[in-house]
Amino acid sequence: MTTDAPPRTGAAPVAQRLRLEQLRKTYRSRGREPFEAVKGIDLDIEPGELVALLGPSGCGKTTTLRMIAGLETVTGGRILIGDRSVGDLPAGRRQVGVGFESYALYPPLSVRENLAYGLRARRDRDVRRKVDTIAERLEMTELLELRPANLSSGQKQRVALARALVRNPPVLLLDEPLSHLDAGQRQRVRRELKVLQREFGYTTIIVTHDQLEALSLADRLAVMDGGVIQQFGTPDEIFDDPANQFVADFVGEPPINLLTGVAVGDGTVRLGDAGALPASASSVPAGRQVVVGLRPQDCRTEPWLPESRRPEARPTGAGLRATVLVYENLLEYGLATVELAGLPGRVVVQVTAGQTLAAGDTISITAAAERVYLFDATERSASGTSINTEDSAGGRLR
Ligand SMILES: Nc1ncnc2c1ncn2[C@@H]1O[C@H](COP(=O)(O)OP(=O)(O)OP(=O)(O)O)[C@@H](O)[C@H]1O
Ligand SMILES: [Mg+2]
Repeated sequence: MTTDAPPRTGAAPVAQRLRLEQLRKTYRSRGREPFEAVKGIDLDIEPGELVALLGPSGCGKTTTLRMIAGLETVTGGRILIGDRSVGDLPAGRRQVGVGFESYALYPPLSVRENLAYGLRARRDRDVRRKVDTIAERLEMTELLELRPANLSSGQKQRVALARALVRNPPVLLLDEPLSHLDAGQRQRVRRELKVLQREFGYTTIIVTHDQLEALSLADRLAVMDGGVIQQFGTPDEIFDDPANQFVADFVGEPPINLLTGVAVGDGTVRLGDAGALPASASSVPAGRQVVVGLRPQDCRTEPWLPESRRPEARPTGAGLRATVLVYENLLEYGLATVELAGLPGRVVVQVTAGQTLAAGDTISITAAAERVYLFDATERSASGTSINTEDSAGGRLR
């Protein structure tokens, strides 16, 4: 029987659990202050799980991957693959496939030879078929006989990805593996990557700056900042229950609105003269200044009614008065940029497609209490260390 199933690339490795325990890295270079790039991170990744590592530039993502791969020395902590601590193993013996943004292809060798190199080093007897198969699945058969110098950056990147995958590594580390591909190819290669990952069960960490990519690929997200994992959870957990202001702000598109408010004590939070929102934060004393996080997707809008014309059922003050500055119709939904009465800055509100708004409209914005996040409003210290705990700058107040 013939099927249209993609050709398989070889026997699946046994999926391995990957654990990081208090992993640290301090860079020391002569004449410079030591710099702690990774500050003791813990991660426990299930066998065959795909984790996306997200965080701003310089937060320590590449450093973390390079330590796991054995390409960077470790200052402290442990790396375990399965039950084996791999700290004493050289890179070549860790059974970790790496695809980093700097392609590191061997210039004198053809693409085919670049892909075959690692397999030959392991005396693999099925080199040609494995190379042909992975090339076909990543849409790069026509590149096999070229040399790296003759490839575009997107093509080089696919070669680097193929080279990481062709050996069927139990652990796969990818640093921005699709960043140079054009939009269409990026989506296709992304899907194929996920299919391959599911088929072979590589335990995978992928670094990406593209949130959609992270959401579409990952079982769980690890959000990192300042050398610290700020939150590790499923995309829904990260989006619906952010641990702190950094995570709330970093994940989500359009970004969450962050406003200054004051807890009232009756289950609401007041935002200047604009009104109040319900907020379920029983631990926050009345009068305390907080940062209020409100996602554009969680806003409910309706035309503003003066106090006298409001239905009685609606509690007064539970709603923000806003004036529409710009309305963007994005077909599936609309985005309104609004100004709140008496508050600086702007707020972005997502509305359903039918609910067309126009510049100058006055509206009322409400949200469910559990979707109004409160964060500690203390200034964040310049050192930028963990903001994980409640009652520290940016910590979530519940
Ligand atoms: N060899 C090195 N010597 C000294 N400092 C370094 C070295 N490599 C990286 N750093 C510093 O460590 C920090 C983390 O770097 P890293 O490359 O891990 O960041 P990243 O999260 O991968 O960022 P990006 O998203 O820009 O790739 C940065 O502040 C960087 O300047
Ligand atoms: Mg990096």
